[in-house]
Amino acid sequence: MKLLSIFGTRPEAVKLAPILLALDGEPQVTSQVCVTAQHRELLDQVLAFFCIDPDFDLDAMRPAQGLNGLLARVIERIDPILAGVRPDRVVVQGDTTTALAAALAAFHRGIPVAHVEAGLRTYCPAAPFPEEANRRAIALIADLHFAPTPAARANLAGERLRGGVHVTGNSGIDALRLVLGQIGATPPADPAKKLILVTCHRRESFGTPFAAIGAALERLARRRDTDILFPRHPNPGLGAAPRQAHALPPLGLPDFVRLMRRADVILTDSGGVQEEAAALGKPVVILRETTERPEAIEAGAAVLAGSDPDRIVGAAEAWLEGIVPPPAPSDAYGDGFAARRIVDALLGRPVDEFIPNRLAPAAWSTLTS
Ligand code: UD1
Ligand code: UDP
Repeated sequence: MKLLSIFGTRPEAVKLAPILLALDGEPQVTSQVCVTAQHRELLDQVLAFFCIDPDFDLDAMRPAQGLNGLLARVIERIDPILAGVRPDRVVVQGDTTTALAAALAAFHRGIPVAHVEAGLRTYCPAAPFPEEANRRAIALIADLHFAPTPAARANLAGERLRGGVHVTGNSGIDALRLVLGQIGATPPADPAKKLILVTCHRRESFGTPFAAIGAALERLARRRDTDILFPRHPNPGLGAAPRQAHALPPLGLPDFVRLMRRADVILTDSGGVQEEAAALGKPVVILRETTERPEAIEAGAAVLAGSDPDRIVGAAEAWLEGIVPPPAPSDAYGDGFAARRIVDALLGRPVDEFIPNRLAPAAWSTLTS
């Protein structure tokens, strides 16, 4: 079986890496990798960490790239690769422009598409933008859907799609476990000093929402007992970081995971960070108006605060001051065996499907210590 995995951004690389590593152990599979490089530095950080050496690099990133130019460039550059490799199947992940372009290009050539992290939905095309539309379009094209959670499978079940659905857990949790295995224990932090870790990058928050999030950070920065660390996404559309937050360059995965583990509260609009925080037992203030990852909210481990400074500060302080206890580490999004299930499904083997919240918090203690 000849598989071609196509991806281009940091989160796709993180979530496909465990699957690529598992495919390397399958002698009957020829697994090839094509990166679009929709991201450059962010992607290369992850490729280096997981020692992934792409077979094809489309080098598509441009400064301040527009969605249409990027989509066109990626489709045009993928097509000759598909024609040359003639894979039995293309594998895409998530909801980026790269994932849509790769799925569509494969569809036009009659190549079956497997979709990793299928079925996440807000049912609001404006948020996340353009990802909600991207992933729904990919679902129409794919004939193998790897739903991370039962809720994602339920979404797909309502959409009259073709092909098979497997609940696998999110492979981002596999990646997290690989990282944790490499970095070892984190030294204990100063108990008198609290840490807020912040990331944000969503396009629908450009402008006024980001300014309001900045105002919330400035209020939180007045606390003497709290540091705010803000690894910045390089998208120039984000504008300047608030003065009081300590801005950092985008961190490599091990350094970022170390910080997540040290954090008392995480403020983020990132999908992957929401999932990883739940696995680590870290409370999350979600800097979005809507989310396709409701599991942590339902478990009381995350609060949807949008960009309203009062909601952001209120939720963060409830955790910082211990008014609300920190959540237990949770396997709501994945148990670290998603890659195994996905490879089994790709090879037509029986799949031992993921059941969330099956593991006692103690089983996760190795993740958080
Ligand atoms: C993209 C995805 C989003 C995902 C996010 C993860 C789309 C439409 N959006 O958003 O779903 O959550 O990645 O990070 O696919 N840049 C660099 N270096 C890099 C990466 C980005 O300079 O390594 C800058 C470039 O100027 C680029 C801009 O960031 O133009 C935006 O990158 P782009 O991939 O278009 O969108 P993201 O906002 O990163
Ligand atoms: N991440 C990282 N360095 C950072 C910020 C995030 O390695 O400075 C990792 C994070 O642990 C997660 C992934 O990047 O695995 C999430 O990517 P991002 O937030 O860019 O995208 P999203 O998940 O929102 O699509």
